Amino acid sequence: MAPKYNDEIFDVLQNDRSGKIVKAIEQYASRRKSVIDIGCAIGKWIPLLSSQFRNVIAADISAINLKIAKEKYPDLTNVEYIRADMSADNLSIEPCDVAICINAILTDSLKKRINFFQSLQLCLNKKGKLILVVPSLESKLYANIIANRWNIDGDNKERIPSSAKAFSLAKNIKQGVTDIDNVPTKHYLREELELLLTLEGFKVKEIEKINYTWKTEFTNPPKWLKGPFPWDWMVVCEKVR
Ligand SMILES: C[S@@+](CC[C@H](N)C(=O)[O-])C[C@H]1O[C@@H](n2cnc3c(N)ncnc32)[C@H](O)[C@@H]1O
Repeated sequence: MAPKYNDEIFDVLQNDRSGKIVKAIEQYASRRKSVIDIGCAIGKWIPLLSSQFRNVIAADISAINLKIAKEKYPDLTNVEYIRADMSADNLSIEPCDVAICINAILTDSLKKRINFFQSLQLCLNKKGKLILVVPSLESKLYANIIANRWNIDGDNKERIPSSAKAFSLAKNIKQGVTDIDNVPTKHYLREELELLLTLEGFKVKEIEKINYTWKTEFTNPPKWLKGPFPWDWMVVCEKVR
């Protein structure tokens, strides 16, 4: 996906008009601290992080994404690019004071998600802060209900192409996995995030909605459709053990 990244991947930084994520990063930023961008992709957050922290680790599983990021910012000398698989069984990584992980834990594989959540711990020093953004399952269901009720984007005409697809959709939704552009993508409940992060040794400090416009859900949202708007979850938490 790397070469077509800008067209195909949702840009959280651009779409968070409230600026809540930037504010959360700035709250914990310091020229004395290190930060890791977990799942940095082509590095949209790197200029901000580079200007606010002593040093930045930009980590991603994709070598192509890392190469694109590195070529974009030759002047940012406090950034180190590392290839790391956060879902690997054994991860060795330099812990930082702050970590951001923005729409990176999306895999439909439960095993990979379990490992990814465990790896978050390894990326941080004790009392380190994590800013995590993930798709909201509540928001996805809310958008589905609206699409169905008012036949938005021809929702009522949609047909599941095969019984195999119907089976996988039903199996996936039981664990909060639902398609974005036909790609099975993990979505999270607020309470689920609280539980998962607490079990991994984090103290949850705040959980906030990052609201977007309806254009992020529908091609033709009706003019009358206003708030509540769709959202991702942002969790700010501290590593306590
Ligand atoms: C949707 S992009 C998010 C990009 C970026 N955080 C942003 O906000 O623009 C997800 C990124 O997570 C990376 N990723 C997915 N699984 C990963 C893993 N197991 N370890 C490291 N990176 C991973 C992907 O390669 C991709 O670049």
